[in-house]
Amino acid sequence: MLNTSSPSGKSPIKFQFKTFEKLPVKIWDDSRAASLHVAKSIALAIRQKQQDGEQIVLGLATGSSPIKLYQELVNMHRNEGLSFQNVITFNLDEYYPMPKEAPQSYWHFMHEHLFDHVDIPSENIHIPDGTIPMEKVAEYCQWYEKQIDLAGGIDIQVLGIGRTGHIGFNEPGSWETSLTRMVRLDGLTRRDAIKDFIAEEDVPTRAITMGIGSIMKARTIYLLAWGQHKADIVKEAVEGPVSSQVPASFLQKHPNVRVILDWPAAERLTRTTAPWLCGMVNWTEDLACQAVVWTAQKTGKPILKLTNEDYNEHGLSELMLKENGAYELNIKIFNRLQHTITGWPGGKAGADDSTRPERANPARKRSIIFSPHPDDDVISMGGTFMRLVDQEHDVHVAYQTSGNIAVHDHDARRYVEFQREYMASQGMLSENLNKHYQKILDFLHNKAKGQADIPEVRAIKGLIRRGEARAAARYSGIKDDDNIHFLDMPFYETGHVHKGDLTDADIDLVANLLKAVKPHQVYAAGDLADPHGTHRVCLEAILAAFEKLKGETWMQDCWLWLYRGAWHEFPIHEIDMAVPMSPDQVARKQKAIFMHQSQKDRPPFPGEDDREFWQRAKDRNKATAELYRQLGFAEYEAMEAFARWKFDWQKPR
Ligand code: F6R
Repeated sequence: MLNTSSPSGKSPIKFQFKTFEKLPVKIWDDSRAASLHVAKSIALAIRQKQQDGEQIVLGLATGSSPIKLYQELVNMHRNEGLSFQNVITFNLDEYYPMPKEAPQSYWHFMHEHLFDHVDIPSENIHIPDGTIPMEKVAEYCQWYEKQIDLAGGIDIQVLGIGRTGHIGFNEPGSWETSLTRMVRLDGLTRRDAIKDFIAEEDVPTRAITMGIGSIMKARTIYLLAWGQHKADIVKEAVEGPVSSQVPASFLQKHPNVRVILDWPAAERLTRTTAPWLCGMVNWTEDLACQAVVWTAQKTGKPILKLTNEDYNEHGLSELMLKENGAYELNIKIFNRLQHTITGWPGGKAGADDSTRPERANPARKRSIIFSPHPDDDVISMGGTFMRLVDQEHDVHVAYQTSGNIAVHDHDARRYVEFQREYMASQGMLSENLNKHYQKILDFLHNKAKGQADIPEVRAIKGLIRRGEARAAARYSGIKDDDNIHFLDMPFYETGHVHKGDLTDADIDLVANLLKAVKPHQVYAAGDLADPHGTHRVCLEAILAAFEKLKGETWMQDCWLWLYRGAWHEFPIHEIDMAVPMSPDQVARKQKAIFMHQSQKDRPPFPGEDDREFWQRAKDRNKATAELYRQLGFAEYEAMEAFARWKFDWQKPR
């Protein structure tokens, strides 16, 4: 079961990890708290230098990782009088070629997120120039490097890490002593950058970047990484060998570096996957379950065939002592996992529910499925959605955001032309209306790459997604349109990939729906791998709404079930309910996903995976069923999995 201590449900594990981690790591419950911590350290260093009448040199990164850090520094400037008068900055990199004023330039990014909001003298700002003529680039890079030296070298360097393991734009193959230079971007890095450039062919193929050698000269380094999509590369950089194939691993040779993570980014570190290998642990049943599943996977055996030797050979002799050997432990954990499997996600009326994931009563439950984007409901839990409806629960679905940025311009155009032609065919096309349509079509025709949509286009794109969501919800069995809710949460409506902050207006939309429906069950996306963070913010809104309403009696019986989005499944020991699907049900779910036509083939923001959403969902659900089969349970076609979020103010079952 997940608890309220962190979004991933894990509490910090308090012992020293020396064996596997070759870099000092600090894990925080969320990226906001982590960023505040780093901001405080930087502010302290700035103030100390101010006291001594000295300047401080900061090395800065762009990308999503340092955004909250910059927000915190801006807050400190505004609210605590932190001055940047004595700060000199050097940015790591810039795309090439890239005009400063382009919305995708790192020059633009830095001014938008930091420099425009603090009192740093403009002559103290250094960002590699993406407009230097090609033949002058080598000389320019030497000059940049020299400026760093002349400023006295970098005191504090902030880094993110790319999924290739790059720091700055030092892609795999970069050598340890490399200095500022022109580089080619890796294919994966360019794909990750599509979110800012719209199409892959628009992403520059080159960049100017400080080298590994330039970074290693910094006196203190903070490497920031958030989210599951960073977990694999973080493990390689932190636990793997030093290798130019993972440029961030060179940091293992630096004397003063700190890796700052949130839990999802730390998900693959040994301290998370197998903490018993790192030191003394407190053997809770959850941890024992994790250890059993881990041993079964390591040995390739089903749970009931694991022996004392298997456990002893895998560093689990202490667990054997505590549990009286493999036989009893195996049966205990086997039963626990067996009890997660149910075809009755809303509970089975009249059945003994003492070992079932959901309560038998009331027989007919009110359920709300929250879907961050308009297609997450069917992608992530389409099978369960249909079962809840088939089993006659009162199912509501709430689409939290409009999802409007993920609609192609050509689709919007098609719909506007359709409307205009339809109105004309009915003799209803007034001059004003025609002008209105023309304005939208002109905008779409002349739209620059990466330009934000005008409100009219956003409205049309949002409506396209609404129609698709409604069609999919109806296909999933919802008969009453009053049970389909569109929240259009305001934080999402920036017209850009980067969203606004969560506000009370967002939380109230969720809270009001909860109050109106008084559900027994709420399903929400607990998927933290969403590349734009929308899922994360949507979950925060739901948790905040629960917090707000926790005094109401009906909230005691309102259970929150989390599903994960299209990217990753929960590790099996975190699953509290696994809903099997037959081949027919898998096919039905697929059709529901197909209702989202604007997301078919290649959605504008596909994330890190080339497969279409229905393929990802299918593969993932099959993999979950396969994992259960390997552990010795019945063989199903596919399974959807859920973890229950436990609130400490809710009475135990
Ligand atoms: C940015 C930079 C890159 C990013 C890295 C991670 O100046 O040099 O190394 O830090 O690509 O990007 P995000 O933070 O967007 O995941």
